Amino acid sequence: MAKVYFVGCGPGDPELLTVKAKKLIEKADIVVYSGSLIPPEIIKLCKKAKMYDAAKLVREEIFEVLRDNTLDEKLVVRLHDGDPSIYGAIREQTDNLKKEGIGYEVVPGITSFLASAAALGCELTLPGVTQTIIVTRAESRTKVPTREKISELAKHKATMIFYLSVHLISDIVKEAIKGGYTKSTPVAVVYRASWKDEKVITGTLENIAKKIRDEKITKTAIIIIGDIINPKHYEYSKLYDKTFSHGYRKAKVVS
Ligand SMILES: C[S@@+](CC[C@H](N)C(=O)[O-])C[C@H]1O[C@@H](n2cnc3c(N)ncnc32)[C@H](O)[C@@H]1O
Repeated sequence: MAKVYFVGCGPGDPELLTVKAKKLIEKADIVVYSGSLIPPEIIKLCKKAKMYDAAKLVREEIFEVLRDNTLDEKLVVRLHDGDPSIYGAIREQTDNLKKEGIGYEVVPGITSFLASAAALGCELTLPGVTQTIIVTRAESRTKVPTREKISELAKHKATMIFYLSVHLISDIVKEAIKGGYTKSTPVAVVYRASWKDEKVITGTLENIAKKIRDEKITKTAIIIIGDIINPKHYEYSKLYDKTFSHGYRKAKVVS
């Protein structure tokens, strides 16, 4: 069956492309790519492809390019920044492809929150602090369900990650505090994670909004809130504890 490849190309650094993604985009006949978030080095790898910037097209036009070229037996790649499954609007395309009897395959990519954690050099799930990551966005033109209000999600005091929201950082701070985080909770903002002009700004809920305003960052950033950024205390893992046995290793010390 003819199929379209939805390919994640990672957060920006071309070396963070998967081998599979690189092979596909080098071979592709048609590439529909997500405009400004894909670096020129990756675009250059699309050696023989006819290129379409998705930022300039509407849903129906993108669909036509994907459908018509796939039916024409071309190798068609819909290239997404990060991972296609995160704020990638792929469902509306995959459902329509299925209706026309066209298959698809999703090739995962490194999403920008993972590149942001890497830039910070931190662990997002730290024993004794939190074992949960909440990935969300602030509401703007796209509505967020009421039950997912930031102040509600903040009640968990988990690690919170915000996409598409840095321009709303003041609102996020207010809601996070309303939900129960203290003003001294650490916050990090990573702008263009893994790009050459990456910036990492750290602070607390009390001062991060001003820092971001001063840096004039209004887009292409991930916000991370949580004590994992700068933990006062945490617990060592059970997995590597010398008194802990598991399927692959016996305890080295009996407690
Ligand atoms: C439409 S979403 C797409 C997310 C993408 N699918 C992913 O997995 O990273 C665009 C948002 O992703 C985030 N983003 C994308 N690339 C980024 C990067 N290199 N550094 C920081 N944030 C990034 C920003 O929050 C931006 O507003």
